[in-house]
Amino acid sequence: MSAAALEVVDLCKTFGGLRAVDSVSFNVPSGSLTALIGPNGAGKTTVFNLITNFFRPDTGEVRYFGASLTGLEPGRIAALGLVRTFQSARIFPGMTTLENALVGAHLQVRAGPLRQMFWSGQSRREERALIRRAEALLELVGLSAERQVPATELPMGAQKLLEVVRALMARPRLLLLDEPAAGLNDSETAELAALLRAVRANNITVAVVEHNMSLVMGVADQVVVLDAGKLLASGTPAQMQSDARVIEAYIGQDEGAADA
Ligand SMILES: Nc1ncnc2c1ncn2[C@@H]1O[C@H](COP(=O)(O)OP(=O)(O)OP(=O)(O)O)[C@@H](O)[C@H]1O
Ligand SMILES: [Mg+2]
Repeated sequence: MSAAALEVVDLCKTFGGLRAVDSVSFNVPSGSLTALIGPNGAGKTTVFNLITNFFRPDTGEVRYFGASLTGLEPGRIAALGLVRTFQSARIFPGMTTLENALVGAHLQVRAGPLRQMFWSGQSRREERALIRRAEALLELVGLSAERQVPATELPMGAQKLLEVVRALMARPRLLLLDEPAAGLNDSETAELAALLRAVRANNITVAVVEHNMSLVMGVADQVVVLDAGKLLASGTPAQMQSDARVIEAYIGQDEGAADA
């Protein structure tokens, strides 16, 4: 058995002439919360897209609990328990907050379509259990009162928290979160931090792309830093905070970018 939930080995991806991801290798230890940080355009989201096969890497390999993911469809990867969220929240319109959370459980419902058609006792029990779990997770992120509200009416921060809840409803072994705190106010960010700690306490491995440094430093076990497509450094939050290369990459961004 591999001790790594994820092994990213020498991944490369070019778009036209741009080396968006350039020979990147790192591990996500099982049970850890690993943060992937770096300036805008560093290649963080592209790494997630390569891990989940939304894009095929030019070269390199990704192993998930020791097994290669090469050539697997994104849906198949999700069904294996490697579940992701997107940088901009993807909320299903025409559904309530609770219904949006329940969509995440689709991968998990064991009763087949025929059984569901007859709405057997077992599917009803499964559905009730799913609703209880969704409500518990919504409670954890402070969205209980909004459970019957159309999800598109939620503020952006709440939609992003809902997306994390929906991903958790799929019972992931490894959760990839792309900037879950972007657009969250302080109290929502605190709810997210509490949720991330609860997730890790439940032995779910997490890799999170995040610009909010106080969140990263407060919850991460390991930090992986990308810059211009390359792995710049990796280590503990404290090591990365005092690493001259990391500080320089961020100072460079502050001078050059207005949208960070
Ligand atoms: N589908 C694509 N086609 C062409 N170029 C792309 C594509 N996706 C990403 N890129 C480019 O690859 C580089 C890395 O982008 P990526 O989105 O991975 O960065 P990021 O680290 O997630 O940045 P941010 O913090 O702004 O989200 C950027 O220069 C981006 O413009
Ligand atoms: Mg990104």
